[in-house]
Amino acid sequence: MANVVVVGAQWGDEGKGKIVDWLSERADVIARFQGGHNAGHTLVIDGKVYKLNALPSGVVRGGKLSVIGNGVVLDPWHLVKEIASIREQGVEISPDVLMIAENTPLILPFHGELDRAREGQNSVAKIGTTGRGIGPAYEDKVGRRVIRVADLADEATLELRVDRALVHHNALRNGLGLGPIDRDALLADLRAIAPEILPYAAPVWKVMNEARKSGKRILFEGAQGSLLDIDFGTYPFVTSSNVIAGQAATGVGLGPNAIDFVLGIVKAYTTRVGEGPFPTELFDGDGQRLGERGREFGTVTGRKRRCGWFDAVLVRQTCAISGINGIALTKLDVLDGFDTIRICTGYDLDGTMLDYLPTAADQQARCKPVYEEIEGWKESTEGARSWADLPGAAIKYVRRVEELIGCPVAMLSTSPERDDTILVTDPFAD
Ligand code: GDP
Ligand code: IMO
Ligand code: MG
Repeated sequence: MANVVVVGAQWGDEGKGKIVDWLSERADVIARFQGGHNAGHTLVIDGKVYKLNALPSGVVRGGKLSVIGNGVVLDPWHLVKEIASIREQGVEISPDVLMIAENTPLILPFHGELDRAREGQNSVAKIGTTGRGIGPAYEDKVGRRVIRVADLADEATLELRVDRALVHHNALRNGLGLGPIDRDALLADLRAIAPEILPYAAPVWKVMNEARKSGKRILFEGAQGSLLDIDFGTYPFVTSSNVIAGQAATGVGLGPNAIDFVLGIVKAYTTRVGEGPFPTELFDGDGQRLGERGREFGTVTGRKRRCGWFDAVLVRQTCAISGINGIALTKLDVLDGFDTIRICTGYDLDGTMLDYLPTAADQQARCKPVYEEIEGWKESTEGARSWADLPGAAIKYVRRVEELIGCPVAMLSTSPERDDTILVTDPFAD
């Protein structure tokens, strides 16, 4: 049976949630393998809007197993709230359909405080994070002082872990002018949340390996996008996890041979939230039009997303880094009505042509996009459900994108609605 990894191939918000929800009909298990509630995945089903942060987008389907893997960092208080709000929308969530890896690190309130304090203190260090404590929690994981889901089950262990974390954090907070952490209040809060989280705790690596052996189909749901990857993104303006497809296996406890197909989610233009380089960013009416038509406001922070033309150089690069077999091209409808559309095909770096984004920050800043112009289309592609519904010029655009990135289109999305989706190649086909 084929297992499919979905990853964002730009700077996030490519439409991963919509595509994962659509594909989840064909899957048995849907697993998040990195990131946390910095993710904002929006699904629209018959006009009803669902916004998910930590929960896998498969929960909305019902009858599927949703998994939060060890590669994720989990804010237990946020999760409990998210479960309550999604239940209010009529979605059933119980330990039968949701499992959390016992070795998942927890995001605690002081992680968020630290994140926000660093972001606020001076503009030199500002990344434009979501302020949700993602970076500090991953730092603690690697620093061997994080509290994990399993630690909630034993009072003595929990106290030991908290003390270990506080030695580090209180010193740091002192330097930043934040007061010390109230140990007793924190322990009380953790004791109170433990019974709400522990029923979902499971040896996810075991469950996933058994699912694989018994021929279940696994759908891995990436968060963020490859250009926000801690190693391969536009460092330091990145998130604090590996978001690329290789992480899917590590992030749940499966071997890399469990992955059969990597689907890269690609927006028909480019957006970015937060600071950092963005070679094709637009500051004119075209950029404004993309933002308005695409409703480009962040789900998590409400910030306006920066918008620009499609950058084939970047997507070719991220397709390589994640081993993308096919892409889902989303938001094609947002390009309806432009006279001409531009695609970046290379960079001019001080007179030399580059076919990739260099790593050095000063060089990235000097990269000038080289554009190719493509004729636009006047017809509407919104809601198109087959190739036959697409105007010739839109098909030409899609074909040119495929050619430039060296990767075929497996799916196309033409509106936020679940079923306004065109399947070209089934990623789950064996
Ligand atoms: P994710 O983080 O990758 O899941 O993406 P987000 O949900 O943050 O952002 C994508 C936004 O675009 C959401 O509001 C979706 O409802 C919407 N969307 C997804 N696909 C399409 C599409 O094909 N056309 C349009 N117009 N909107 C889409
Ligand atoms: P989804 O899954 C877009 C960005 C933040 C910031 C940087 C670091 O919805 O695509 P962090 O809080 O992770 O330390 O912030 O990463 N960022 C995202 N941008 N979509 C996301 O998730 C993002 N998650 C983080 O804006 O620039
Ligand atoms: Mg998003």
